[in-house]
Amino acid sequence: MDPVLCQYSHVCSGCDAILSSYETQKNQKIATLRNLLTSHTLPEIQFQSFGTHGLRSRLDFVFDNHNFGLYSHITRKIEDLPICLQLSDSLQLALNQFRNLKPPISKGSFRIRVSPQEEIGFWLDFSNENIKDLLQSRDYLLALQEIGHVEMGQRHKALYQKPSGELGIGQPQFHHWSETVFEHKKIPLLSTVASFTQPSHISNAWITEKIENWCETLKPQNILEFGSGIGNLTFPALAYKNSKLTALEFDGLSFQALTKNVESLGLGQRIDLRRGDYRKSTDLKLSDYDLLLLNPARNGVGELLKSDVTSDSIIYMSCYPETLALDTQHLNNLGYSLQELIIVDQFPQTTHMEVLSLFTLCKS
Ligand SMILES: C[S@@+](CC[C@H](N)C(=O)[O-])C[C@H]1O[C@@H](n2cnc3c(N)ncnc32)[C@H](O)[C@@H]1O
Repeated sequence: MDPVLCQYSHVCSGCDAILSSYETQKNQKIATLRNLLTSHTLPEIQFQSFGTHGLRSRLDFVFDNHNFGLYSHITRKIEDLPICLQLSDSLQLALNQFRNLKPPISKGSFRIRVSPQEEIGFWLDFSNENIKDLLQSRDYLLALQEIGHVEMGQRHKALYQKPSGELGIGQPQFHHWSETVFEHKKIPLLSTVASFTQPSHISNAWITEKIENWCETLKPQNILEFGSGIGNLTFPALAYKNSKLTALEFDGLSFQALTKNVESLGLGQRIDLRRGDYRKSTDLKLSDYDLLLLNPARNGVGELLKSDVTSDSIIYMSCYPETLALDTQHLNNLGYSLQELIIVDQFPQTTHMEVLSLFTLCKS
């Protein structure tokens, strides 16, 4: 594949592998994963690519002193990035519009996302003081609202206009910012702009279809899912028509979105929703489940696998292979072996990787 010619490649900290060819990046990711899992018998490590750039459907940038971008690893200041080759075309257009408006503040983080239907969402993770000033001065937020949905602060509060014309922020609003699959059809997922989603609609379509295909083959009766988020893997996991699923999620706003998504699909009879910190020891009886579907944050599943794990299969998706390696060691000791191991390259030009793995219990 042709190298990606990014004019910021020597300064921007966003793409820490961009100075290597894509082939070298691929080989390095495979070697890193193999080294982390060195003591295990591994299947062939597959590498699923979606191209070298243009994948991202959401971005997280910082605004600092009129620069919109990411830290420069040379100056340690924010490098202005008018163009980022990692963005999808529609996300780049949304960034252009955001930049034109120039926020009247000196510093803050922001997220922009574009839905599969090309709606635009902005999350301004600014200080409370800045939010208050922007609400009072109105013009900037009114102009931004003309372009897309606006959310502010850590509690994802939605911007609205009072009948008096004043601006306020209130309850989070849930829109269809991403999609997954259920019964081989694409379905929209409700969330806030600031909720966690996978970074790209393109790679996520591949991931969710893979989960659906695995679950169709495995035919689990009872699934336990750790880290359900807004339900991205939950619905494809129900591919086998008789299966039931217990969904574990810690984050309050993701859990609210998950609840709404389950309701809107009418799947309340098949999905048991539980909110809590399931990295700590729990009263869940893991031996009741014949499939575990694990998609933790970087810190892994904690104590969850320390209980009585007897499921036939485990699907483990991880954006942090170091914790996947630790849990693989533990699962090996319990008699599980890796059947499939796939690097899903949804972070090209970086050293980050998403790993999708399937373990089965060796019954001897
Ligand atoms: C990598 S995200 C995956 C979300 C979802 N599966 C998806 O594909 O969009 C990890 C999820 O684990 C949740 N999580 C983190 N710590 C948790 C805990 N202690 N107990 C339950 N869920 C947790 C996070 O809130 C987040 O939604």
